[in-house]
Amino acid sequence: MPVLPIVTFNDPVLREKTKPVSENSEKLQTLIDDMFETMYNSHGVGLAAPQVGVELRLFVMDADAVTADLEDEEDLGKIAMINPEILELAGESVRMEEGCLSIPDVRDEVSRAEQVTVKYLDRNFEQQVLKASGWVSRVIQHEYDHLEGKLFIDYLSAFRRRLHRSMLKKIESGTLPVEYPVRPKKTVSSG
Ligand code: NI
Repeated sequence: MPVLPIVTFNDPVLREKTKPVSENSEKLQTLIDDMFETMYNSHGVGLAAPQVGVELRLFVMDADAVTADLEDEEDLGKIAMINPEILELAGESVRMEEGCLSIPDVRDEVSRAEQVTVKYLDRNFEQQVLKASGWVSRVIQHEYDHLEGKLFIDYLSAFRRRLHRSMLKKIESGTLPVEYPVRPKKTVSSG
């Protein structure tokens, strides 16, 4: 299972609206395996298909690394969500620090609903409904945003974004050293 290069800020593929997965296939199963491999290799807790350059409504997650030591959080292990749909956001708005494998070395606080109810197809194409809170809820909302072409930095104030500007420029130009394989933005040829 190969580790795939992760697309970084601000490749246009991260801004596209993704298409629903239409059918199960060997190719899809391989993609899911590769996405898990890529996520673990970069010590991430979630990875969405656009982050490996695939415009499909699919993400993988495993929040156990952050929930293992937290008493009130359940360890759910590896989850692949195909064609997820957010049915409900509930509870208070909670501010917590987030990062993103596509925006290495940038972290900041984002407010998100404490609870999420999501409907999705698992990798066997069976329909599931999951009600989650805490970290799992946050990861689901962050990864779901990727399928809508949205990044966590979009939630930041102009002031906070300005603080990250030089780092974002470095990522965009491919000059920031990253510990996992990345694919900097494609250069558009003018010819
Ligand atoms: Ni992300």
